[in-house]
Amino acid sequence: MYSNSGGTAIQAKIVNQLRDRDIEAITDLNLGHANAHNGTITCHNVNMEELDAFFSYNAGQQTPYQVFLYQVLNESIPCLNSFESFSLSEDKLRTSHRLSRAGIRTPDYRLCNTKDKPMLKNTIREWGGRLVYKPTDGWGGMGIVKVEDERSLDMLIPFLDQTNIPHFYVERFINYDMTDYRIDIVDGEFVGCYGRQAPKDDWKTNVTSGGSVIRREPNDELVALAIKAAKVTGLDIAGVDVIYDQEHEEYVVLEVNGIPAFATPEQEAAGLTFNEGKIERIVNLIERKAIEKHASMQAALTSQL
Ligand SMILES: Nc1ncnc2c1ncn2[C@@H]1O[C@H](COP(=O)(O)OP(=O)(O)O)[C@@H](O)[C@H]1O
Ligand SMILES: [Mg+2]
Repeated sequence: MYSNSGGTAIQAKIVNQLRDRDIEAITDLNLGHANAHNGTITCHNVNMEELDAFFSYNAGQQTPYQVFLYQVLNESIPCLNSFESFSLSEDKLRTSHRLSRAGIRTPDYRLCNTKDKPMLKNTIREWGGRLVYKPTDGWGGMGIVKVEDERSLDMLIPFLDQTNIPHFYVERFINYDMTDYRIDIVDGEFVGCYGRQAPKDDWKTNVTSGGSVIRREPNDELVALAIKAAKVTGLDIAGVDVIYDQEHEEYVVLEVNGIPAFATPEQEAAGLTFNEGKIERIVNLIERKAIEKHASMQAALTSQL
């Protein structure tokens, strides 16, 4: 569990609620401090494969080392979120593709081969002279650029040729009111919603880009959309980001976050009150996964007798 922004207090509540249900919880099992050897992953002398479930909630980016061990551990025990859904949510192309195929509206997107400059040019023409470039593995709005006309793209191309960007993932710019919805879903159920507003001189709502958090109530359509997006991505714990396309008058899912932050103490004081409900649903989820795993291990042992 992340320890800043109130994370330590959230962790204590989760651990206490698990203990009330006779589920032992071991904290600080950071995969960054673990290692794998001869069929086991150990962290601080704990054999990770003997756990009934592994719940990890790290803020910020995980190191390639952590991600690698997460993948391996996920093959033996239930991880929350599963490695498959986590890695999907870390990739913008894969997420948009999965959502689109399930009939969920995302911004129009295109993955272009870096060699295929004509395709980029055609795309910006087709999209009315604007496009948004995104690194497929970015976060916090970093590296996302809006190209406002074809001439700017022409200027950019010789520069792009000098980089080793593997591909161009581009999206159609959505005309929206510069606010978004973040809808938290745990185990298929709605737990809370808030919004973010881009700063006056920017079009990105990310708090790291200067966006501010606002209180916001979702309607039934938004909740249903978020539940569907969470399901399609396979995330047990999901934060679904939605904006409203003013031109087509419909909601568009921008991304689905696999580690959506709890409200900070300051945000809670300002009226974002979903933490308690979210903690309870996460505890229910961990309990269910652990019981299922425990039961399947018992069954395997019994069948060996
Ligand atoms: N296609 C788009 N049209 C309009 N605004 C967008 C589009 N894509 C992203 N944005 C804005 O940029 C922000 C960051 O984009 P996002 O895809 O969520 O990346 P990140 O993972 O960096 O948060 C969004 O919160 C939204 O405000
Ligand atoms: Mg985002």
